[in-house]
Amino acid sequence: MMQRIEGFLGKSVDGKKSRIPALQDLAQSITGLILACFMICHMIFTGTILFGTDAFESVVKFAEPGGIYQVTNFVALVILIIFMVHAFTAMRKFPANYAAYRAFKAHKIRMRHCDTTLWWFQFITGFLLFFFASAHILTIVFGEKITPDLSIGRFSQLHIFYLLLLIVTVLHASIGTYRLIMKWVSIDGTRAEAHARRKLIKTINFIVWGVFFLLSVIADVVWLSLG
Ligand code: HEM
Repeated sequence: MMQRIEGFLGKSVDGKKSRIPALQDLAQSITGLILACFMICHMIFTGTILFGTDAFESVVKFAEPGGIYQVTNFVALVILIIFMVHAFTAMRKFPANYAAYRAFKAHKIRMRHCDTTLWWFQFITGFLLFFFASAHILTIVFGEKITPDLSIGRFSQLHIFYLLLLIVTVLHASIGTYRLIMKWVSIDGTRAEAHARRKLIKTINFIVWGVFFLLSVIADVVWLSLG
């Protein structure tokens, strides 16, 4: 009954608004942060191929104590669950119908603000990740032991897929971490100081992701050359 009243009025019986949207926002931010940190570690992991197949194999050995490769399957399952929670909480913000889509487009054109445009990019890349990232994570969850030979084989067969996955992931994660900072970190100072600090944070954020992206592209070339 209580839920039905809240459904009609948008408020609970005691007149308060639900805290659930705020909790969903928090869950979206926390899962996004975990995935972004994971992605940095992941790019370092696949990037170790720059030092040869032995370096890549040592990282796999380190991550799988006693050679139990199911550890990786389990970690991938945890990442999949975090990814699903993130996608579920983010979906709320997608335009729900054509009218909402048009309203956002009009707003974007009127505002001509970089952050509004970045949100649009994040929406599109987020949507693409539903398919691209799920396919990759499921391969790992149900896959066999990761070895350099297995990954070399996958890279030579699926290089376009991996490159697209990389571009979409880095775009999404870099915009995501920038938005996370803007949302949760208070930036003090006068208007001009706050503006300058925001600009600096934005530059540092995109440089860091840019460097990791470049490293991964070079690593991808090495992966391909080994195939
Ligand atoms: C625990 C989970 C994961 C593991 C163990 C893992 C492992 C791997 C491995 C071994 C490769 C080399 C190719 C292959 O063998 O398939 C690879 C490539 C790749 N993975 Fe993952 N992955 C995981 C999750 C993710 C997630 C969540 C994303 C992004 C949404 C991602 C993005 C990529 C990208 C972009 C590549 C291409 C290599 C590059 O350019 O950096 N992976 N992954």
